[in-house]
Amino acid sequence: MKNEFCDKAAKLLEERVTREQLLAITEVPADEKMGDYAIPCFALAKEQRRNPAVIAAEFKEILSGKKEELAADRIENVGGYCNVFVDREKFTKKCFAKMFQENHGFRDWGAGGVICMDYSSPNIAKNFHAGHLRTTIIGNSLYKIFTKLGHSVVRINYLGDWGTQFGKLITAYKKWSSPQAVEERGIDELLDLYVKLNAEAEKSPELIEEARAWFVRMENNDPEALAVWNWFREISMQEFERVYKMLDISFDSCTGESFYRDKVPGLIEELRRKNLLEESQGALVIDLGAYHMPPCLITKSDGGSIYHSRDIAAAIDRKKKYGFEKCLYITGAEQSLHFKQVFKAVELMGYSWADELVHVPFGLVSLDGAKLSSRKGNMVYAEDILKEAVERAMEQIREKNPSLADKEDTAEKVGVGAVIFHDLYHQRIKNVDFAWEDVLNLEGATGPYVQYAYARAKSILRKSGDIVKADDINYHKLADDAAFSLVKILSGYEDAVVNAARGYEPSVIARYLITLTSAFNHFYQKCPILQAVEEERYARILLVTIVQDVIADACGLLGTKCPEEM
Ligand code: ARG
Repeated sequence: MKNEFCDKAAKLLEERVTREQLLAITEVPADEKMGDYAIPCFALAKEQRRNPAVIAAEFKEILSGKKEELAADRIENVGGYCNVFVDREKFTKKCFAKMFQENHGFRDWGAGGVICMDYSSPNIAKNFHAGHLRTTIIGNSLYKIFTKLGHSVVRINYLGDWGTQFGKLITAYKKWSSPQAVEERGIDELLDLYVKLNAEAEKSPELIEEARAWFVRMENNDPEALAVWNWFREISMQEFERVYKMLDISFDSCTGESFYRDKVPGLIEELRRKNLLEESQGALVIDLGAYHMPPCLITKSDGGSIYHSRDIAAAIDRKKKYGFEKCLYITGAEQSLHFKQVFKAVELMGYSWADELVHVPFGLVSLDGAKLSSRKGNMVYAEDILKEAVERAMEQIREKNPSLADKEDTAEKVGVGAVIFHDLYHQRIKNVDFAWEDVLNLEGATGPYVQYAYARAKSILRKSGDIVKADDINYHKLADDAAFSLVKILSGYEDAVVNAARGYEPSVIARYLITLTSAFNHFYQKCPILQAVEEERYARILLVTIVQDVIADACGLLGTKCPEEM
């Protein structure tokens, strides 16, 4: 609604301020006394070399003459501020009418434009670790957000299923393992084999030669090598699927690195034609010195494809296949340089769409304060984090609500939801620590806190049994501060989703949910609902109906589910 207000106000103020300027400076003050929209005129004053109070007074003059058009009740001028107080009844009525429209009355922002999202992308034969949990959760949420805004999203799981490490793995498997051991222990066996090979290779370097030879066989489509590799891939996928199932996540494409291996010779051709390749110690590279980056490696001396070249080939292929307007890569911030190099290479190749490639980085994960790193051996599996969360949620339920009907289902929603919410509540670039007391705390800014508010709203609606329509109520009954501040938050839903999309930042929605549910709890304490009399009761029930709907919808955008009872 702030968007809409700024559209209208900018028109009324004509040349004095642009819509964009107004949008940038207009505030929605938390304190009702400062108005529903406050326009601070300080930045404008600086630009125009005028007194902010004079500009604010001028704005007040003009807007006061057009109160009707702005649905404003009164307009004040305090110092350098022009404060607009909306007509609460009209405002609420409009807000509710919008909420009952298809897709909450959101504009079709995306107009079907295609966005490719590359996320999750775990490495086969390695565990699905906590870092992969973050990309999966953030990616899934961005998928839901952009879909709500009318984009058509292609969800790509770019499996790490190619590379020299698979040569090592096959070598180790042939030497020390068996089909039974792999079937039984799955990824654990593969991981052990990989670690063992690296350790043994320190004493016997010829193992590395052997591993290299196996990878060359893979690259040459040797059936035996490919059969083993493919089997490892399937075993890994089965394990990843368990995590996806818990998170209720799926993909449109699982085309991983292996798919692009045979596209790399063509890429090298093209790079050569475009004069971009240089030889460096037997390897082929693109020199990026002019852009203050180390060279982008295209092939090593053995001629095989590598992570960089496969990514360049994949970007070109995706553009052809999907005609995306944006392609997002959601990975840890430690890969920032990699993507800068890849994007620069695409640009130097002359592809004008290189600026549609966007790296969406995120910070590190720790568990109860302990860093998670593979080398030190305290690697934590995503699946274990999710399972532990569900178990802890179950303990809480048994303790607090032992008579709850479907405990398993609720514990699953609460536990998994808590992990997702905790991840998304922080700005993605910040490091996240999964301290269980914080994650599941019913009183903090957590998933369970939000879910609890939803369950409370649902319980009110169940008890009341009234079905109230937007046309049936007296809007004056929602004009008090507690109800109206809730209405204002509801009216900001679309802005929150748009802002989350603009910054690739699901935390905007997680924070929105906390603001909404806290205001709801406040309203619930201040205003009796079931005990209120007729008109008041109907109006409040309608408000609760909308609050509950928006909580569920916004939770859906994060990828969490709301139990009906808790
Ligand atoms: N497999 C990589 C990893 O686990 C992430 C891949 C990200 N996507 C990409 N197009 N490079 O670190």
